[in-house]
Amino acid sequence: MTKPRRILTYGTFDLFHHGHVRLLQRLAALGDQLIVGCSSDEFNALKGKKTVVPYEFRAEVLRACRYVDEVFPEHNWEQKRDDIVKYKADMFAMGGDWEGHFDDLADLCTVKYLPRTEAVSTTELKKRASTRIK
Ligand code: CTP
Repeated sequence: MTKPRRILTYGTFDLFHHGHVRLLQRLAALGDQLIVGCSSDEFNALKGKKTVVPYEFRAEVLRACRYVDEVFPEHNWEQKRDDIVKYKADMFAMGGDWEGHFDDLADLCTVKYLPRTEAVSTTELKKRASTRIK
């Protein structure tokens, strides 16, 4: 297989943590450019996901990450096909919690799921922070 050039991934990336860093590091190593669709606050509200950090700052943190080349807002579930075409992505990749969910995109590019980093998540960090602050 030839090395894919442009990798596309999506996520909320709230309370940016080492699980996020390791996923982005592994994705960046798969290609030449890593492009990240960061869920907007409106889209998270639609998904029932409450974020601590607003989109503007989650995107800023992602842009500051050395593994990330470009960040754009994810507004809905349906935009992925258009984004793959727009960003000329060779690979669409997500963490293993999404295994199988996006296999229908395989007609446009390679679809890959990477194992999650164990024992860390935004949900877990929020829980830990709230019990420590109380
Ligand atoms: N991710 C990962 N390892 C973790 C946590 C997240 O590889 N321990 C990956 C997810 O699989 C996803 C991306 O990071 O591809 C963004 O995940 P996101 O949902 O923003 O992070 P979580 O920590 O899983 O957040 P939450 O607890 O709110 O679901």
